[in-house]
Amino acid sequence: MRVIQISDTHLSPGKTHFLDNWLPLARWIAAQQPDLVIHTGDVTVDGAGVEEDLRHAAGLMRELGVPFRAVPGNHDVGDAGHGHQPVDAERLLRWRTHFGADRWVEDAENWRLIGFDAMLLGSGEPEETAQDDWLRTVMSNAADRHIAWFLHRPLFLDRPDEGDTGYWSVKPQPRSRLVELVRRYSVGLVASGHLHRARDFMRAGTRYIWAPASSFLVGPKIVAEPIPGEEALGAVIYEIDGESLEADIVPIPGLSRHWIDDVIEEVYPRRPEG
Ligand SMILES: [Fe+2]
Ligand SMILES: [Fe+2]
Repeated sequence: MRVIQISDTHLSPGKTHFLDNWLPLARWIAAQQPDLVIHTGDVTVDGAGVEEDLRHAAGLMRELGVPFRAVPGNHDVGDAGHGHQPVDAERLLRWRTHFGADRWVEDAENWRLIGFDAMLLGSGEPEETAQDDWLRTVMSNAADRHIAWFLHRPLFLDRPDEGDTGYWSVKPQPRSRLVELVRRYSVGLVASGHLHRARDFMRAGTRYIWAPASSFLVGPKIVAEPIPGEEALGAVIYEIDGESLEADIVPIPGLSRHWIDDVIEEVYPRRPEG
């Protein structure tokens, strides 16, 4: 079974800055003939604020003609504790209307692929607890399958026990609960997006893959401290066969190397605090 992970397409019919990268991505996906496409979020420029972005992006995903699953990113459903766009029931409903569930299970050969909504973590929303219960259930009834997680925000940047990295990774408190699950169930793979950087590394027997974006790169105007991984655009190809899961981060021909630094004020204008 071939699974393609794409991430951070940042699509919008109103803000078309990265739309030129959709066609090469869609063509490349068609050529790969995958059985499943997984989108790890920031599908849209601003689905958290503009429903049309969600409708448009979901339409493009359906046009691929391949079964797909997606987990939302901060730009799709807002973020826990965000001053202007907190993740809430209304935003989740909008996501679910256009993309279906924000948490899901796909069994592939001897692997259980689990997608869940990283934006809920630390939100205190009722759905956070519901998701936590659900995650524990689908982990415990995975029987002898290996487990792979797909979520937007990485659990950590360098080490599971590191401190708060702010915007870039899951907060230490929800992270520690998840890391405990990773250990207890020997999770084989944790795949994420959000950073717009590519990285493939092991920590304590678990493989962590940061899927590159296909929209834009994030440069020094945005990232104050250096973040590990590689400045690259692309996608991830998984070949799952019985017990085995192979993963490759690959470039995609024809993508323009946009930098968010050049257009940040147009695409994501700063708002006054409060
Ligand atoms: Fe993103
Ligand atoms: Fe993100």
